[in-house]
Order: sequence, then C-alpha cells, then structure tokens
Amino acid sequence: MFTSTPHGTLATTDTHKSALRRALRITASEKWDLNRRFPLVMSHASGAHVFDVDGRQYVDLTSCSGSAPLGAGYQPVVDHVTAELRRTGGILPGPLSVHRIEVAERLAEIFPLAQRSIFFRTGSCATTAAVRLARSHTGVNLVLTSGYHGWHDWHLQDRPGMGLPDRDLGSIDFHYDLDLLKRLTRAQRVAAAIITPEVNFFPPEYHRELQNLVHQCGALLILDEVMTGFRYRRGGYHTAIGLAPDLITLSKGLANGMALSAVAGRADVIGAAEKTYMGNTYQREITPFAAALSTLDALSDGTALARMHQFGEDLINGLNEVFARHQVQASAFAWPTMFDVVFANAELGHTFFQEMWSRGFLMQYGGRFMPSAALSDADVRGAIDAAGQALTASLARVDATCDNPDPIAAAVRFAGDHFIATPDTVRRWVTAASHP
Ligand SMILES: Cc1ncc(COP(=O)(O)O)c(C=O)c1O
Repeated sequence: MFTSTPHGTLATTDTHKSALRRALRITASEKWDLNRRFPLVMSHASGAHVFDVDGRQYVDLTSCSGSAPLGAGYQPVVDHVTAELRRTGGILPGPLSVHRIEVAERLAEIFPLAQRSIFFRTGSCATTAAVRLARSHTGVNLVLTSGYHGWHDWHLQDRPGMGLPDRDLGSIDFHYDLDLLKRLTRAQRVAAAIITPEVNFFPPEYHRELQNLVHQCGALLILDEVMTGFRYRRGGYHTAIGLAPDLITLSKGLANGMALSAVAGRADVIGAAEKTYMGNTYQREITPFAAALSTLDALSDGTALARMHQFGEDLINGLNEVFARHQVQASAFAWPTMFDVVFANAELGHTFFQEMWSRGFLMQYGGRFMPSAALSDADVRGAIDAAGQALTASLARVDATCDNPDPIAAAVRFAGDHFIATPDTVRRWVTAASHP
C-alpha cells in the first residue's frame, strides 16, 4: 500500500491506516491526494495548527493553500458566519442579497478598478468566467494564457498528462514568453491574455511590458490574482505595481477559508454577462459573503498582512542559513508572504519537504510558502530547527550531487516544471529581478 509515496505514510495507528485505506478505496487519488503531498487523514485545524486523526499536531506553512490567511477558525469570522447563518437561514431563493452587494462595494474600495464584481465559488470558476466575459465582450474566441488558472479544460488542455483527447483551439499557452506573445498577437485577433503574475520570478517591468503588448493589440488583460489578490499587498499585485488590467480574478483569502471567488473590473466587460449565461446556484448562499465581510474587516488595517510578511522574512532568512550551513544549492526567495524554495537537485527538494512534514511542518516541493497571520514565533523557530534536521536526513537518503549547480539553471527547471515558463524567459527576467 502507498507504494508510490516515496516516504510511505505518517499513519501509525490502525485507525489512521484504516482511514487511509478507506479513502483510497472510495475517494482519494493516490497521485493527487497522497503522492508527495501529505499522506495523512486530517481531523481539524485551529489557527496555523492542524491535527490528524491520531491527534498528532502539525504546523501549516501554506495557510490551507492560501485560502485562510488569518488561520483556520479565525474567531471573528466564525462568530459572524455562525450568527448570519442563524439569522438568514444561510441560503435564499434568489441570488441577490445585501451581503453580496456589500462585498462588491468593499471590493470596489480595495481595488479601484473593480467597477463591478460577479461571484462564484472557486478560483477555477472565476478564471473560466473571466475568459467567457472577454470572449463575449470582444466577439473573439482566441485567448492567450500563462501560468496556473485551475483545473478547467480551456486552460489545462495543452499540458501533458491531463487526459484530454482533443486540443481546444480557442486558447494558447504562451509560457510567459513575450516574443511568442508578440508573434501570436500579430498573426490573429485575440480576445484576452490571462496571466498569473509570477511575482517571485518576474519583476514589475516584465508585467508592465506584458500589459503594453496585450493592450497594443487591442486585447483585454485579465490578471489572475487568485493567489496574489489578498496576499501580495492590500489592493493586490496590480495596484502595488501600477498595472491596469481590464479584469482581475480573486479567491484565496477573500472569505478566510470559505469558498468564494470573484471576477472584478471594467463595468462594460463585466456587463458582457448580459450576453451570455453565468448563473450559479450557490451565489444564493449567504455564509461565504458573511465570511468575506468579516475577513475584509480583519485585513483592513494591514496588521495581519504585516505579520505574514514578517513570518515570511524570518522563514526565508532561517531556511537560507540552513541551506548555507549544509552547503546545499537551494534558495528561499522573493515576496515573503508567498515565497518559493528552489533546490538545484529537485529530488533533494522533494525529500526535504517529506522530511519536514514527518517532523510536523506541512509544505511540499513546488508549492509555495504562504505563512498565515496565525503562526507564532515559536512555530517559525520550530520550522527552521526542523529544516536543519530534515536536510541532514535528506542528504542521507538522496544523492545530492546535481548536473548543474548554477542557481539560474535551477530557477529555469523549477519554473518549467511548476508554471511552464520557457527557459529563455526565465533566464532573461529572473536575472533582472535578481532573485535566487
Ligand atoms: C492563480 C490561481 N488561479 C486559479 C486557481 C484555481 O483556484 P481553485 O483551486 O479554487 O479552483 C489557483 C489555485 O491555486 C491559483 O493559484
């Protein structure tokens, strides 16, 4: 059992082993849920602490994949959601509620370009909706894309291993390559380019040049801020660096762990919803909107983001000291609230994070460190101590020599594996950003 999970499982009791067996039989994917992730069945979380069914505690270094920047079970959000669930019944027959209107008004305050907003449950729904709006607004089908936007077909269709038999001709991945983008926009009309800003690899100038190219050819720019919207800075990445996308997509962190996503932006582009159909049953639900209102309150004075930033900086410094002490070619780098760790030897990177979670610190290689405001200094110190032990243990398990110890080569490999940027693009921009 769990043969493809290199480090086996942390399940030690019969209860835990049996829960994993049941999961694999009826619901889990060995590849997506277990292999190289956290092969354990979780029970509950509080703040940044998570417990498995055996009662063993872990520290979450991901904010639950970025969804809960204030930490799981953040009390003011839980209290507000519970009260509103009781008061309102939780769901209404029609989609319009005061809560929905208020969340849209709050987004307009935080993101000045958000003249209008429409709502969904997941980040994938928001990006798919943004693409539909762009097509509907421009009357053009072709969409160019770079970066991760979720699991829907239009986006994953030219990635290997996704099991999609036919190539959708309506979208082309330009792999962050601006020369390819230029060639594609010269050759045909394009509705929009939708990109996820890779803030740790590409500097603001890259994103500005991209915006110019997209707007020069008459296409819309959709900035996928599902990851960055509430985690980069207040107002998201585009506000911080002065970009003016036509649409943005938001989700992670909007409702501190409850499923809510939004497409926000130019009123006329959002207005193209009149020409198509984007109804979704659960926009009638009140609780995610209630969670969003109290989450936005909690984020409004910047204290939580400043804490996340500080924890990120401490982790970056601590991890880099550990790597240097062990003379391992690896680097923790870039924006502290959402930083990456790149190993010159990727296998060592995977093993390192398995050793980390077996010591109670949840992260995976290629995932992104997203510290929550619920971490404590003791959690961060614990993570850095564990990193030293995890690296020693990893070096005993994996041959750490690598073909090319050059940090830029490592960044090229990492970016190619994790967000499919072309090597030339990474070489050109990552040096300019002076990252790893
Ligand atoms: C930039 C970006 N867009 C879209 C998505 C998809 O969001 P979801 O997993 O909620 O569908 C993600 C999820 O990680 C993301 O990081």
